[in-house]
This record gives sequence, structure tokens and C-alpha cells, in this order.
Amino acid sequence: MLMMKNIHKTYHAGKPNAFEALKGIDLEIEEGEMVAIIGKSGAGKSTLLHVIACIDSFECGTYQIGKLSVDSMNEHNLAEIRNELIGLVMQDFALIEDFTALDNILLPLEFASPKKKNRRDLARNALQEVGLTECANKRVSYLSGGQKQRVAIARAIINDPAVILADEPTGALDSKTAQEIMDLLKSMNHRGKTIIIVTHDMEIARQCDRMIEIVDGQLRNA
Ligand SMILES: Nc1ncnc2c1ncn2[C@@H]1O[C@H](COP(=O)(O)OP(=O)(O)O)[C@@H](O)[C@H]1O
Ligand SMILES: [Mg+2]
Repeated sequence: MLMMKNIHKTYHAGKPNAFEALKGIDLEIEEGEMVAIIGKSGAGKSTLLHVIACIDSFECGTYQIGKLSVDSMNEHNLAEIRNELIGLVMQDFALIEDFTALDNILLPLEFASPKKKNRRDLARNALQEVGLTECANKRVSYLSGGQKQRVAIARAIINDPAVILADEPTGALDSKTAQEIMDLLKSMNHRGKTIIIVTHDMEIARQCDRMIEIVDGQLRNA
């Protein structure tokens, strides 16, 4: 499903404050796998997830997703991959608090071209899938942490992506709510989605098929 070879990523490349966050990542993830990326704060977990999600660029290395070669793609094709293949659940939800749950989920579809006619139905289906039908018209600011995370997941799955990426999806939740979110992600995995979770919680990581540890920008088999 996903194959990286020797990926290097430097922030502020060529400047005095250049920082190499990924130092030669080799990574292979099979279709239908559920993988945890673990590591200390600052190790490069989010950076790796963003590169996988095609929202961050990298200087060298090869990256293939499905049959597509990411390293030779232009911005237009990258946007297509992000829209169709990948669902990203950002750290700290990244929702608009004043919008309703439904409108938060609809937002990415407003940028899609051509606009999907049935996008309200898609959004409602996504909310149903995460068990939040009754919260569709509630403002996000009134929702609990667990409910917000469900909205963020619903937004990520609206285009039925093959891969779901989640950055610390349980980081802000109590352990019971965290397990509920984990169970939701597992159920999506059982229905065929490839899932990659960044976490520093071993209880969460242990429930995945496989753990990958990142230390100082390099992978170590966990
Ligand atoms: N936009 C950025 N500009 C410069 N350095 C960054 C940026 N984002 C992250 N970094 C640095 O890259 C390293 C890895 O960050 P990150 O991937 O966010 O780590 P993690 O998610 O494992 O905590 C850290 O040292 C961080 O300070
Ligand atoms: Mg992070």
C-alpha cells in the first residue's frame, strides 16, 4: 500500500536554522494493516505522518502509495491523493468550534472540485459511522473531547479513503474515551481500511498489528 525508501525531510532547508527531522526513513505498510508509530516528543512522528499524508514535502528518497509515485508528482496530483486516498485526523482535532459538527465535516468538501452534489448525505453517513448522528447540528464547542475526536474522524473518512492517518487521536482523552476511539478505529480497520496511528501511549500502540518506533528522525523496530 505504502512504501518509503530513504526519505529525508529538513525544515528550513538551506537556512541557518535548518533542522533535519527525518533522516533516511525506510517504511513499508501493507494494505489493511493497523500500525502504530511511537516515539518521544520531538522524535519526528508528526513530521512522518505529514509526509505520509502528502501535506509535507521531502528533499530526497522515494515514496510510493498504491501504484502512485509521490516523489515525482506535481501539486495537482498530490491534492488528488490527499482528497481521495488519505483521511487525516490532525492532532488536537483541528475543528472549528463555532461550526456545527455537520458543517465541520462538510468543510473539506467545499474545496473539492467538482463539488459533490450529495455532500450532505456523505457527511451524515460519516457522522453515522462514528456514532454521532444525534450531534449533527450541535456546535462543536458544546461537544465532549471524545465527541470532537469522532467529528474529526468523520471528517477524515468522508471521501472513503483507503488510508486513515491519526496523530495522537487519544492524546487529549481520558482512558475510557480513548479506548472507545481506539475501538472505532479498529472497527474501521476490520472493514478494510489501512490505519496508521501516532501515539505515545503504549496501551494504544499494543492494540495495533505492529509498532514502529521513531528515534531522533530514524526508525527503529519496536
Ligand atoms: N515547522 C517546523 N519548523 C521547524 N522545525 C520543526 C517544525 N515542525 C517540527 N519541527 C521540529 O522537528 C522535530 C520533529 O517534530 P515532530 O515531527 O512534530 O515531532 P513529534 O510529533 O514526534 O513530537 C522537532 O525537533 C521539532 O521541533
Ligand atoms: Mg507530534
